[in-house]
Amino acid sequence: MSERERWATRIGLILAAAGNAVGLGNFLRFPVQAAQNGGGAFMIPYFIAFLLLGIPLMWVEWSIGRYGGKYHHGHLPGMFDAIWRNPLAKYIGVLGIFVSSIIMIYYCYIESWTLAFSFFSLGKTYFGLTEFESMTGFLRSYQGVESGFFTSILPAYFFLLITLGVNFYILKRGISKGIELLAKFGMPLLIIMAIVLAIRVITLGTPDPINYPDRSVENGFAFIWNPNFSKLGDAKIWLAAAGQIFFTLSVGMGTLQAYASYLKEKDDIALNGLSTASTNEFVEVILGGSIAIPVAVAFFGLTATTEIASGGAFNLGFVSMPLIFQKLPLGEFFGFLWFFLLFIAGITSSVAMVQPLIAFLKEQFKISHNKATLYVAIGTFVSSHLVVAFFKFGFLDELDYWAGTFFLVLIGFLEVVIFAWIWGMDKGWIEINKGADIKIPKFFYYVIKYVTPLYILTILVYWGLTDAIPTLLMDNIPDEQIPYRWGARAFMFIVFAGLCFMVYKAWKLNKPRYDL
Ligand code: ALA
Repeated sequence: MSERERWATRIGLILAAAGNAVGLGNFLRFPVQAAQNGGGAFMIPYFIAFLLLGIPLMWVEWSIGRYGGKYHHGHLPGMFDAIWRNPLAKYIGVLGIFVSSIIMIYYCYIESWTLAFSFFSLGKTYFGLTEFESMTGFLRSYQGVESGFFTSILPAYFFLLITLGVNFYILKRGISKGIELLAKFGMPLLIIMAIVLAIRVITLGTPDPINYPDRSVENGFAFIWNPNFSKLGDAKIWLAAAGQIFFTLSVGMGTLQAYASYLKEKDDIALNGLSTASTNEFVEVILGGSIAIPVAVAFFGLTATTEIASGGAFNLGFVSMPLIFQKLPLGEFFGFLWFFLLFIAGITSSVAMVQPLIAFLKEQFKISHNKATLYVAIGTFVSSHLVVAFFKFGFLDELDYWAGTFFLVLIGFLEVVIFAWIWGMDKGWIEINKGADIKIPKFFYYVIKYVTPLYILTILVYWGLTDAIPTLLMDNIPDEQIPYRWGARAFMFIVFAGLCFMVYKAWKLNKPRYDL
């Protein structure tokens, strides 16, 4: 077989994998999940899910990826085929290119808002809009939901084009000269920007001690960090915590496996996987947890902060933060830092979401890298119009619910079963430990074999009993959104069916050989 592309340096690989995991989820989704689920009450199930789902799945995914890479598979259909060798395996693997591609389509749109808002901060475009209503109006008019400050969707469309352009330019440059280089510059920059913002927030103290003595950064931290054991009986919090672990670590997406496929057979994965997970948690909990929520509590108080968070991540990130920047000296600079930080976090993740599909086209249809990148760019560009045009009808939310939440958990379950039970945990354990630079405690052998699958199964069964029917029937969805949400489902179905057909064709054309 011909030589495969490789990561140029180990630090580059770790930064790229960490960049894959660290994303909008760390700075927007995490604070909102924490606030919506009772602050300190959320953190206990969150850390348990990190230990019993996140870390084990990280190792499982790196192993599957490196093993698949041996057979030149940078995508889950090929990887599952290599370890299971059953005709069904590659179709289960389709889920891996399906979710990453669907997430990319809407993730890139949100990423483009962060780029736009970086400019709006520097240019003080939203300065003067000092009320929730007016700032919400600014965001909604930018999104094309209602007319207001912006009278057309063109600015949003323009920034989307730039964002897609930058993403695909990086992808066109390939693994080491594109993705790795981006991470080598982007990740240190991101961490520095986040530290500057966190220090700014921590040193705010109590902004208005005379009128609002209880609105302080300390109270914000206390909200997130004071454990609340009384809520641990609420299954919804456990579900939310597990969902956040999947999304933030990028497990169940097929992207970490794709990155790991560019390793050599004896390269370490134990320490690399753990470093990726730990870097992500440092950025999420220490940095992400020290910005949006504490600063919102300091300026608006605890009750208002939970209300803001209940309105979702966009409310917190694009409405409440700009209001706060206007109250700070050098607010335009801090606003720029916040949004540009989100942009860097976003782009190092979105390039990862495209990589599996590019690898699939290149490897299975034997087309050039440039061609594969171009085809995927066209597909993403065309599909993103649906997200832009139907945003106000919940199209994005529908994609996010299924691809960004439900299917991640499902893939996590299927892959741990294929790994530990079909391939066999003994083989899997040898694979995880091959070339390892650390000794993984044997405890994790049992966790991967029994605890992780049972944990995810419990989540899925609980979901099936409580949420499945109302969600499928769209019980709580406003009437005007229902046709568009069905449209989103139809779109996902077509993408999934199309990918299955491509896998079928690809295997007919070039059946992979495993006897080499
Ligand atoms: N893991 C990525 C994020 O947190 C997708 O945004």
